[in-house]
Amino acid sequence: MCGIVGYIGEESAQDILLNGLKKLEYRGYDSAGIALLDDEELNVVKEKGRIAALEAATNQDVTATLGIGHTRWATHGAPSKENAHPHQSHTARFTLVHNGVIENYEQLRNEHLANVELKSETDTEVIVQLVEEWVHSGKTVEAAFRHTLSLLHGSYAIALIDKENDDAIYVGKHKSPLLVGTGDGFNVVASDALAMLQVTDQFVELMDGEIVIVSREGYAIETLDGDTVERGPYTAEIDASDIEKGTYPHYMLKEIDEQPAVIRQLLMQYQDEDGRIKLDDDIRKAIRSSDRLYIIACGTSYHAGLVGKQLLENIAEVPTEVHIASEFSYNMPLLSDKPLFIFISQSGETADSRSVLVNVKEKGHSTLTMTNVPGSTLSREADHTLLLHAGPEIAVASTKAYTAQIAVLSILAVDAAKAQGIELDFDPMKELGIVANAMQSLVDQKDVIEQMARDYLSVTRNAFFIGRSVDYYVCLEAALKLKEISYIQAEGFAGGELKHGTIALIEEGTPVIAIATQSHVNGSIRSNVQEVAARGANTCIVSMEGENDLDDNIVLPEVHEHLTPLVSVVPMQLLAYFAALHRDCDVDKPRNLAKSVTVE
Ligand code: F6R
Repeated sequence: MCGIVGYIGEESAQDILLNGLKKLEYRGYDSAGIALLDDEELNVVKEKGRIAALEAATNQDVTATLGIGHTRWATHGAPSKENAHPHQSHTARFTLVHNGVIENYEQLRNEHLANVELKSETDTEVIVQLVEEWVHSGKTVEAAFRHTLSLLHGSYAIALIDKENDDAIYVGKHKSPLLVGTGDGFNVVASDALAMLQVTDQFVELMDGEIVIVSREGYAIETLDGDTVERGPYTAEIDASDIEKGTYPHYMLKEIDEQPAVIRQLLMQYQDEDGRIKLDDDIRKAIRSSDRLYIIACGTSYHAGLVGKQLLENIAEVPTEVHIASEFSYNMPLLSDKPLFIFISQSGETADSRSVLVNVKEKGHSTLTMTNVPGSTLSREADHTLLLHAGPEIAVASTKAYTAQIAVLSILAVDAAKAQGIELDFDPMKELGIVANAMQSLVDQKDVIEQMARDYLSVTRNAFFIGRSVDYYVCLEAALKLKEISYIQAEGFAGGELKHGTIALIEEGTPVIAIATQSHVNGSIRSNVQEVAARGANTCIVSMEGENDLDDNIVLPEVHEHLTPLVSVVPMQLLAYFAALHRDCDVDKPRNLAKSVTVE
């Protein structure tokens, strides 16, 4: 979603800001802008569309050494040049970029800005106009900034510059992520460390309700109440090369290919020298002392949670519920006596999940975040964190994070089983090694899957995925992958549900892709395939060695039946990738979507 960058130093800020914005492109946006301040001269450029359009509109002769930049994902007001950030106060003295949503902006506008003509439809512009109002009424800039932030309801990460002070970026944060990066003679601001890794790997975490004045020589953090906060930087352990595409045409393809390596990485991270599962004792205790797990997540992470429930209940006999975060917030079920909430979130920033986290923490419940981003908001705010170790995931469509989530859930399930003395008839770590090899053999078969995309998805307007048991959960994920990047209307169905309504959608040539890896439902899912084939569907069966028929379209290498989602999803990811590619879609940055969904 929206992204913020800021630079104050000795170098020309423009290139650093543009490079930073490019690093944030993957998060999804529909307009972008920068503001550069040079000797009280302010240069603001904004464009609808891609950063390339913004770059083309910039003046290369501007050598300002202070600036802020933004990528906007529209919430209030359409994607347009007028609504793009930075926004300016009516005298153009103050210029600001903002991530988040100001819930009371209309009220603030009516109460305090009746005489100010606003130029955009955004909630953001109200913030910068308010700062100007308070400065006119006699407050210092810092006091005006502080007072403005104290009036805001909702979420924000803000960077503001003052035309009359070329040695300060005013920064504030509440619920939306924001970091200050430090360097020698310069400092930076970024909503994501990735954006500024080009200049520093030293970042200072900011907490909700803090403001920071960032100058060339340092930064001063205070709470909104004016208390000084001392906090030094940490080293962001991200390898800058991890966020490059290398020779790949798309991040998504690179990330699909990385999955075997991610599983091997997880085996190293979660295993000690004697081959035993390595897990924080506090996490073990939290699981043991709970009577029910509540997995909370959105989208792909929710789909991983569904597989996780199956693993936790089947392997460890731990009762587990899975909930969509945005539903749970408003429709909370009756809870057990000792719930443990597990938040699954690749980004660790998803606002819907965070809202549940805040809510259940207030009620005193125990919380654990499973995330790919150490130091992310959900990780900081939960009692415990389990890391996915998948490396930065840049493509909007999640792939390697999904498989990492399932792998970590399987490790958690096995550990919980062992803690209860449940005898397992398989060696989970060895089985995950077999999974990594199976994934490798699948990513090596891209030509087969590309042909499948041509055969089944080249002209269709819809596609269905059917499965039973855990295969059904993979079907949900397969459909989400396909629809989000190729815009083909795709749905995942439980095989048994077809005859209760969905089969009415089947027409001559409708693609129906069945996943059939589970022996106990193999016969029934194949009957479902017959039923739709008899009504004209263009059917395809993805099965597993040992469960396969001779004419199945793809036969996955055999893996343990608990772990089949880790491999059956790989051809589904590739299928979506090639379908999108054949339709000339922007694979890594699908329309209307954001990588990190920081608004509810
Ligand atoms: C789809 C996808 C999304 C995310 C969802 C939650 O490919 O990536 O459905 O899974 O927005 O995001 P996280 O996992 O960051 O909480």
